[in-house]
Amino acid sequence: MTQKHIFLIGFMGSGKTTVGKLLAEQLQLPFVDSDHWIEERNRKSVNAIFETEGEAFFRDQEWLFLNEAANFDPSVISLGGGLPVIENALELINEIGVSVYLNVSLLTLIQRLKEEREFRPKLKGLSDAEFYPFVEALLSERVQFYKKARLFMPNERNKPGELVEKICKELNKLNFQFFYSSSSDSSIPKKLTFSPSSSLRRK
Ligand code: S3P
Repeated sequence: MTQKHIFLIGFMGSGKTTVGKLLAEQLQLPFVDSDHWIEERNRKSVNAIFETEGEAFFRDQEWLFLNEAANFDPSVISLGGGLPVIENALELINEIGVSVYLNVSLLTLIQRLKEEREFRPKLKGLSDAEFYPFVEALLSERVQFYKKARLFMPNERNKPGELVEKICKELNKLNFQFFYSSSSDSSIPKKLTFSPSSSLRRK
């Protein structure tokens, strides 16, 4: 299979959508968001899916998305914060793309997420006292998966544009080249060459 996508992974609130949209624009690639794809497919919000079908169903939808993504045209893809935790997901992600982990500290995440609790099914209903330990535990559980990403990009105080520039430079260093970029900026890769092997199946 060919590594053709750029996947942004990281905890809720790490900036995947903002950075992903800008990166896609810069590389002139389509931007795809796994949550949005699942919402369209089910004609329901992520919140409603968690409430009616439950989390296990949502995770199955995420796995389905990832498998479908293997057939998409080269894209910048933002993945829901829990998707990389699905068994074998990171292996498949790294097989069909370059994964970029947007690494944000616990304290910054807490600040960014505390007012958003009610809109996020994983955090809904948590009291002030429960919120911090819950996020801390979930993050420490997930970090081991996020760390399997190809690139680590801290996203604490960056302006999204600066971070996008840094990601492009790192991609260039990896010698990854993308089909669709017609930018005149030489730091931005231009066509795709890398293609590792090995097929994967969910255990
Ligand atoms: C989730 C993260 C959300 C969304 C869902 C579950 C998680 O995506 O997939 O609410 O388990 O961390 P974002 O990380 O894009 O907010």
